[in-house]
Amino acid sequence: MIKKKLTIKTKKQGAVINKEIYGHFSEHLGRCIYNGLFVSKDSPIPNHEGMRDDVVTALRDMGIPVLRWPGGCFADEYHWKNGIGSKEERATMINTNWGGVTEDNSFGTHEFLELCRQLECEPYICGNVGSGTVRELSEWVEYMTSSNVSPMTDLRKKNGREEPWKLKYLGIGHENWGCGGNMTPEYYASEFRRYSSFAKNYGDNRLYRIACGPNGDDYNWTETFMKMLNPMLTDAIALHYYTICHGDWNNKGPATGFTNEDYYSTIFHTLRIEGIIDKHLAIMDRYDPDHRIGLVVDEWGCWYNVEPGTNPGFLYQQNTMRDAIDAAMNLNIFNNRADRIPMANIAQVVNVLQSVVLTEGPKMIKTPTYYVFSMYKPHQGSTLIESKLEDTFVKHEGGDFAEVSVSASVKGNSLTVTLANASLENAYRLDSTLDAAYACWTGRILTDNVRAFNSFDNPNEVTDAAFRDCVLEDKKFTVTLPPCSVVTLTFTK
Ligand code: AHR
Repeated sequence: MIKKKLTIKTKKQGAVINKEIYGHFSEHLGRCIYNGLFVSKDSPIPNHEGMRDDVVTALRDMGIPVLRWPGGCFADEYHWKNGIGSKEERATMINTNWGGVTEDNSFGTHEFLELCRQLECEPYICGNVGSGTVRELSEWVEYMTSSNVSPMTDLRKKNGREEPWKLKYLGIGHENWGCGGNMTPEYYASEFRRYSSFAKNYGDNRLYRIACGPNGDDYNWTETFMKMLNPMLTDAIALHYYTICHGDWNNKGPATGFTNEDYYSTIFHTLRIEGIIDKHLAIMDRYDPDHRIGLVVDEWGCWYNVEPGTNPGFLYQQNTMRDAIDAAMNLNIFNNRADRIPMANIAQVVNVLQSVVLTEGPKMIKTPTYYVFSMYKPHQGSTLIESKLEDTFVKHEGGDFAEVSVSASVKGNSLTVTLANASLENAYRLDSTLDAAYACWTGRILTDNVRAFNSFDNPNEVTDAAFRDCVLEDKKFTVTLPPCSVVTLTFTK
């Protein structure tokens, strides 16, 4: 057992943790939309307006605050007018990025906004700058958000929606350094200014405009974009960072049945995001000292080889305790930068990369990552406070890193502390001090063999459970974290 000191200062308050840090991402990719979120209305799978009841209920219970759509690289070839009106008349297209399958556009703008209504979450729409036009994006915003009389609003009404929707989050382009047009940062920054100018605020709808940001550690992209920034048109830039085991994009390794070394390498590569975020923020600081522009992390998560026997273009992967540890550590990193990170979206919500839910026909399972999001829910909208842990740095074959991660927040009379122990060998006892007295506590734990996962035959192998290994005494508590575990503690006065 390794003993370390944890100091929590409830009076040292930071920013409010935006609930959108717990955001998700849906893409027309494999079985994410079709069969994952959406089935036909006359499907035997219980649904409302085509949205799967089981999936909607699970995501709502988990507290999904925002959902990004329609991609991903799919967004770069999406033409929204093909996805409205009578389903029989909707034009089809080839999904060139993901398996070359025919997309029938039966899930479009109305369906996505209906899904968000059922999920009670904010929609986040990603516009097509790569192969679209300024006019197309401008008209999409008008179609969704204007209450004026206009050809676009008439079209919306003809398609059955009288009132405009509310839309806050709008992505102006996606991965324009890659599948979104292979643009240089200079070219994209100019294009962004043009597209952004014509994405208007109608009535009292206020857009939060998110620019395509860097690919991982591409600091030149951030520097160039910030240099050419028009602060009136920009609310945030979006970083994409995927965790790749051993950093090898050509062989990302299996999602299950990995070695301990693969595991440690995965955690090592996940934690690289912390330094990458901080370097981008330091660049942004030079152009935006008042921190008006946020750094959204709108694609993150673990990416492995596809499950054997599945379509390589569908990116379907299982999800183990390794992913749960990964998610918990990422979410602590985002919480601890709540003043600069207004939103993050894990990829992708159902049936693709680090999904929280997997489906097979009428069956649905929750993954270990699901339980982490559910256990971290109390942080949403709470105020970040200072939590300092003594160094837990350990050398591993797959990479060296601090094994234990923490974040803490307060809301009203309650304090939430989330902890992850990434070690497969070491239990940690944290002797902790508080600057305020709390009367009682409750806890949840997620722990299992690092290779454990939920399958359709064994859907409850990994689930959270009541946690008992904490002793609270006035302004002190001692908590023991078993190896490979995620713990949430909630204290009340
Ligand atoms: O998540 C899969 C793909 O990875 C997304 O479509 C793209 O944005 C990223 O490169």
